[in-house]
Amino acid sequence: MYHILIVDDDKTNLSAAKNALSDAYKITAVTSGEQALKFLKNNVCDLILLDINMPDMDGFEVMDRIRANPERADIPIIFLTADNDPQTESRCLEKGAMDFIAKPFVLNVMLSRISRLLELEALRKDLAGQLEERTRHIKHIQEMMIMGMASMVESRDLSTGGHIKRTSMVVEIFAARLSRENPNLSKSFLEKVIRAAPMHDLGKIAVDDVILRKQAKFTPEEYTEMKKHSAEGARIVKQILEGIEEEEFVKIAVNVAHYHHEKWDGSGYPEGLSGEEIPIEARIMALADVFDALISKRCYKEAFPYTEAFEIIENSFGTHFDPQLGKIFLECRPQLEELYQNIT
Ligand SMILES: [Fe+2]
Repeated sequence: MYHILIVDDDKTNLSAAKNALSDAYKITAVTSGEQALKFLKNNVCDLILLDINMPDMDGFEVMDRIRANPERADIPIIFLTADNDPQTESRCLEKGAMDFIAKPFVLNVMLSRISRLLELEALRKDLAGQLEERTRHIKHIQEMMIMGMASMVESRDLSTGGHIKRTSMVVEIFAARLSRENPNLSKSFLEKVIRAAPMHDLGKIAVDDVILRKQAKFTPEEYTEMKKHSAEGARIVKQILEGIEEEEFVKIAVNVAHYHHEKWDGSGYPEGLSGEEIPIEARIMALADVFDALISKRCYKEAFPYTEAFEIIENSFGTHFDPQLGKIFLECRPQLEELYQNIT
């Protein structure tokens, strides 16, 4: 049964409305805006019938305060008023009311407006639910596709087996710490960085197999080719995500791919950005990326012990890495060691 909240300081009107509606709906009736807001603090309802002219707090103010609570902002509101003039009506609709019922009520009109509005609202919720489900499905397919592409890159690059998965887990641990230590980085931003992390090396898809699989040091020409993976990755990530994902996530994922080899002192690639010119998401990725490279065995080097790897990172504050972020990264050492012990 739909639950309707009626707010009207005129007790005669209130009981008339209550009597008219209580056969078909569950009714809560209150006589002031204050009481309505108090009720809505701990309860929800499907519709609010709200009188405009009330002492203390008028209907418009009550509506503004209901709308200010994101968890109650979607409840449809029908205004009730004795001012039967077009200006009041247009102000009600402008303010975001779903409808407008003039007092004294004409019973049939009121009932049919309420039932039509509740039907529409049910339809809207159903459509919103379907849309959400589809979006979830598309995102899932897309994530599978990205992980598929990432593992395709990895299967070609013999030296870095598991790097993408591991760096993503490192970013996750780092992000959890950042969220506690740096209030400027929102949870939603950090979640996006975690989702973007597996895409950081997608550009390697465009690097020649011979270079990617080389078991020795690169020649300068080969290194130039290899370095193209960051800008190429940004292009690919943009192409895959644009139009499907929200703009902010696309930007973060593109930045992670594009700038994860930039260095704090400007000596990195591809753009030679320095300091805070490098997007923070790429500075986060750089720490995770280098840490994994240090701690893992590669064809050209042994794995560094933890102490040495963390020392190398610390000694590169201000040259390779953002010193502030780097300090927080070092604090993740216990969790990072635990992670690598469990996955190797
Ligand atoms: Fe890379």
